[in-house]
Amino acid sequence: MSGIKDLGNATLTFDGKSIELPVFEGSERERAVDIRALRKETGMITYDPGFVNTGCCQSDITYIDGEKGILRYRGYDINELAENCEFIDVAYLLVHGALPNETQHGEFSRHLNSHSLLHEDMRHFFDAYPDHAHPMATLSAMAVSLSTFYPELEDATIQENIDYKVSRLLSKLRTAAAFSYKKSIGHPIVYPKRSLKYCENFLNMMFWNPVNDYAPDPVVAKALNKLLILHADHEQNCSASVVKMVGSAGANLYASISAGICALWGPLHGGANQHVIEMLERIIAEDKGNVKRVIERAKDKEDPFRLMGVGHRVYKSYDPRAKVAKQMCKDVLAKLGVSDPLLDLAMELEDAVLADDYFAERCLYPNIDFYTGLTYRAMGIPTNMFTVMFAIGRIPGWIAQWLEMREDPDGRIGRPRQIYTGPTLRSMNS
Ligand code: CMC
Repeated sequence: MSGIKDLGNATLTFDGKSIELPVFEGSERERAVDIRALRKETGMITYDPGFVNTGCCQSDITYIDGEKGILRYRGYDINELAENCEFIDVAYLLVHGALPNETQHGEFSRHLNSHSLLHEDMRHFFDAYPDHAHPMATLSAMAVSLSTFYPELEDATIQENIDYKVSRLLSKLRTAAAFSYKKSIGHPIVYPKRSLKYCENFLNMMFWNPVNDYAPDPVVAKALNKLLILHADHEQNCSASVVKMVGSAGANLYASISAGICALWGPLHGGANQHVIEMLERIIAEDKGNVKRVIERAKDKEDPFRLMGVGHRVYKSYDPRAKVAKQMCKDVLAKLGVSDPLLDLAMELEDAVLADDYFAERCLYPNIDFYTGLTYRAMGIPTNMFTVMFAIGRIPGWIAQWLEMREDPDGRIGRPRQIYTGPTLRSMNS
């Protein structure tokens, strides 16, 4: 890894004994104490539920400054990438470390097209799921099922055929996501088309049907492209850590991604985008749009309710993705001529959050999921597909993180310790 600076040692003293622990600094001056020798030297472990203070790796991929609201992929600011790039170029960037030139772009695009079909036997899987199946469950099952149909990738070395691996996952999971939607509404599935670009192809598979011809709206395709870029990576978040944990045991990429999809589904993580819309709908239906009552509930420690789309483990200022997403949401709704009372309610709720001491003291701001669902909704994407959209966007990040982990010379199987607090030895006879 590049950019590491040795800063000397920190001394830990306990029980009359001291040990020296190396301190180092990354390229953006974040500092870490290397505690790898701690248990061996002292018999103690660190205690850090939720890994709030634990760095699990050195990484070249994504940089976040949660205090300043900065997010960069491979050194490029998220705003610049979202404004100027195609999602597939950002996927290439995350995996390869550099944006593709024209030839590389063309080749990657061809790979994506040639791997977009699902094996026909996999298509039949969709028939066995109930119509109400959540598409995140289906997507996760499809991801791991790919390993049964395309096992040859498991045998290759990590970097071998990398574009082949990436495009297969990116392309086939996009197809699987659209198929799961078609299945849920009882419509015939629509196959991918070579003539369409990545986002347009997805929209066509979602919205074309035999009785209602459909051409992807450029406004919608552009918005989707931007949203996928915003979702593409977020360093050591819950799902990426799951992908890496599974991969650290030597499990294949498909299995690791499948586990990541399940983690992302959780309402505290990517599932929040669906829960934001459901929360806003409930505020209208049950609270007659009364934002004050919802804010009071969120602050009440006796009430398990939390404001969905608000707060973040890392961002202690406005989530930079949320800034882009909010502006884009307004633009897309205006361009599509959609007026959504939920957007007005969301903005009122945001104002109330920003004006309230409870949220200010805890540095709680709207996160990416606060406004993305409203945009997906205006684009015609059904609510239960929102987290699937997040997952499609996050695939390149998961792959890049998985690859980096597998090549990390310091990498070992992920295996946290614990402090046991249960009964000491007892006998069934006593
Ligand atoms: N509503 C009300 N209070 C909150 C919220 C919220 N959404 N989020 C955090 N808090 C409070 C929390 O109760 C705690 O208060 P206190 O210090 O009095 O006990 C304090 O803020 C710190 O919260 P925490 O749970 O210790 O923070 P965390 O870093 O463990 O959790 C979070 C981060 C994102 C899970 C949390 O903010 C949350 O549940 N937010 C709502 C769900 C959500 O929008 N998730 C999407 C995150 S963005 C997509 C992604 O990258 O995953």
